[in-house]
Parts: sequence; C-alpha cells; structure tokens
Amino acid sequence: MNHIQPSRPLWQYKLKMILSHLVALSNNFVIGVNNDLPWKLKKDLQHFSAYTQNKTIVMGRKTFESIGRPLPNRKNIVISSTLSSQDGIEIVKNLDLAVEAASKWNYENDQDNEVVLIGGGFVFEESKEIVNKLILTRVDCEIKGDVFYPKMDLKDWNKISTKSHEKDDENEFDFTVETYLKISLI
Ligand SMILES: NC(=O)c1ccc[n+]([C@@H]2O[C@H](COP(=O)([O-])OP(=O)(O)OC[C@H]3O[C@@H](n4cnc5c(N)ncnc54)[C@H](OP(=O)(O)O)[C@@H]3O)[C@@H](O)[C@H]2O)c1
Repeated sequence: MNHIQPSRPLWQYKLKMILSHLVALSNNFVIGVNNDLPWKLKKDLQHFSAYTQNKTIVMGRKTFESIGRPLPNRKNIVISSTLSSQDGIEIVKNLDLAVEAASKWNYENDQDNEVVLIGGGFVFEESKEIVNKLILTRVDCEIKGDVFYPKMDLKDWNKISTKSHEKDDENEFDFTVETYLKISLI
C-alpha cells in the first residue's frame, strides 16, 4: 500500500501552470538522429541553456541518455520505467507524474510554475494537446533523421516573438526562434 500523500491538493500545484515545449526542428520536422541532435548550432544550445536556467525540465529517458548527465541549475525530471535512481534526477513513470512532480517542486521552491518539456519525440507527441507555450527553433534545412516533432495545428496560438540567426562557423544552418502562446492562456 502506498502511504505517500501529497502535502497539498494537486490543483494548487497546477494553478497557472505554463507547460512548454522547447525544441529545435528542421523544415521536415526532424529533431533527432541516432539518439543525438542532427546539427551543430552553438547559438541554439546557448539559447536552450539560457531559457532553462533555474527552471524545471522534463525529458524522456533517451533524451537524458543523449545529454549524458543532469543539467546543472535546473530541476531534472526524467520519464522512464527502466532507469535506476541516480543523483541529480527525479525519475517518474509517465507524463502525468512528471507534470505533477514538476509543479509540486516549483510550488515548494517558490518558482514560477513553468514546466519545460525538452523532448524527445515520444514526450513531445504525448504532450502536444496539453502544452500552452512553444519555443520552437526552426532550423532552415531538410535533413534525414529518425525522431520527429509532431505537426502542431497553430491556429489557436499567437506568435509572440521571432528572432533569426544566420549560419556561421559554429552554427551549421540559419535558424529562427519562434515563441507561441496558446490563445486560451492569454
Ligand atoms: N531537436 C531537439 O530539440 C531535441 C530535443 C530532445 C531530444 N532530441 C532528440 O530526440 C531523440 C530522443 O527522442 P525519443 O523520442 O527517441 O525518446 P525520448 O522521448 O527522449 O525518450 C523515450 C523514453 O522515455 C520514457 N517515456 C516517455 N514517455 C513515457 C510514458 N508516458 N510512459 C512511460 N515511459 C515514457 C520511456 O523510457 P523507458 O524505455 O526507460 O521506459 C521511453 O522509451 C534523440 O535523437 C535526441 O537527440 C531532440
């Protein structure tokens, strides 16, 4: 019998929650290949790091293994039924439990209640109906891959910012960071 009780009603953790996708995708929706990123984009990694600092990030087990370590200065929650417990991450068995654990942690640590889903394809697909913020890095290439971002219907979304970057020695492709909010959130 499970005696662990939440210390507060769960609806409190979920109040005003922002649930985001932070993702880089190609023109043909590729996000990964061979459990790695399909491109070298230093500026986008810097953007990823800056956006997630001091926030709660949620990822699938394969994305965690691809990164290879917990990311510092962030609460790392990993969805997995196979990983053994290890320092620096909280492991949960499904997306609902991940959102609950993240929201509870934000609440108890006086954080803004944003939960940033950072991938991979499995996690993006299963959360596409419940997210209310998208931070999309659109990488200007058609590329081969084995993991894809779902096709989102953006008609109920407002684009609130766009920032373009040109390719250079450290960034293989041009890319644009677009941020969207779901209209129901505004
Ligand atoms: N371009 C980008 O922005 C970006 C971002 C992140 C990742 N990626 C890429 O995406 C790829 C990885 O994505 P992926 O789709 O293969 O894997 P993933 O989503 O990272 O991880 C999948 C695993 O997560 C666990 N999981 C997720 N949801 C679950 C649920 N509801 N219930 C139970 N378990 C669940 C399972 O782990 P267990 O098998 O342990 O149970 C599952 O095998 C890599 O190539 C990575 O580089 C790209």
